[in-house]
Amino acid sequence: MRILAFETSCDETGLALVEGTTVAGGWHFVVEKAALLSQAHLHAEYGGVYPNLAKREHEKNLPILYRDFADLSFDAVAVTAGPGLEPALWQGIEFAKRVAAEKNVPLIPANHMEGHLISSLVQKGELHGVTLPVLALLISGGHTEFVVMDEWFNYKKIGETLDDAVGEAFDKVARMLALPYPGGPHISKHATAAREKKLQSVIKLPRPMITSGTCDTSFSGLKTAALYALKGKTLSDDERAAFAAEFEDAVADVFVAKTRQALIDSDAKTFVIGGGVAANRYIRERLEQLLLDEFPDVELRLPDIAITGDNAIMIAQAVLARRLSGIADEKDGAEIRAVGNLSIKNK
Ligand code: KG4
Ligand code: ZN
Repeated sequence: MRILAFETSCDETGLALVEGTTVAGGWHFVVEKAALLSQAHLHAEYGGVYPNLAKREHEKNLPILYRDFADLSFDAVAVTAGPGLEPALWQGIEFAKRVAAEKNVPLIPANHMEGHLISSLVQKGELHGVTLPVLALLISGGHTEFVVMDEWFNYKKIGETLDDAVGEAFDKVARMLALPYPGGPHISKHATAAREKKLQSVIKLPRPMITSGTCDTSFSGLKTAALYALKGKTLSDDERAAFAAEFEDAVADVFVAKTRQALIDSDAKTFVIGGGVAANRYIRERLEQLLLDEFPDVELRLPDIAITGDNAIMIAQAVLARRLSGIADEKDGAEIRAVGNLSIKNK
């Protein structure tokens, strides 16, 4: 089965044509064509994503990207219905509706977070041999949550941020350090340099909720602590790098503690991370170490860094896995609505 997927929930316009087949214990995917256009540089001057600009850019980019897909054949169209920025989501939905009608194929709404979760389990195009339950840590610009998948496509959220998403904290702290948006990769680069030079930050940051005993997190206090710590100070390059490392350490310490708690609470046999912040090498290493040291029987699946950010391949894979399992949620185009805070859906 071949699916053409559209993703426009935030500041990336993504299209992907993916073929999926059922194999023993799972699925096999072949990405036949994928396109991704980032608008991040346009949002940089606002220090975050500006919804109406995102909407206009998707409107402009969708037909341009679709030209390369128009002559290809596919059995269904999938489109992200949420969560995300509603004006941006609507652009993808309206466009996908037209394509599905023109090609006379079904239109299937997809959940963005399920896309991150399912695609992060895929290894070299293969998604099989996964031992349930799966614990997923989904970390992005809009979300920070622990989700347990006890059977395929059945989800339970066991923890989430009580305020800001971790990616948002990376982006805001980067801005305080005069680093460009999106800030995550820049903080990470400076932090790595500081560790290589063994620089120590004189400024120390809190590890919010680290001892709460729950799987919930909070990042707004960390952001405010960074703001006060930096107020009126001019940091040297080395001090700035050391501060970036301290911030990344604080985030990683929190995720190590919360993942330990979540693994105990969920009794998961597989642990996966997904979302834009899952590209962070230091957080990946720290979580890898936690599993090696304390949960050697839990299988760790780390996604390819190339697919951690928003893209349409993940949407195609999640929808293919569902369709090939006979879980149809095909909708009449008119029924599909953008839902900004759509929570991860169940079977
Ligand atoms: O999943 P994503 O592409 O979009 C949303 O759905 O939000 O995540 C974007 C977020 C941004 O906040 C960005 O700064 C962060 O992911 N990010 C990183 C890294 N790469 C991207 N954060 C930390 N370290 C990274 N290497
Ligand atoms: Zn995302």
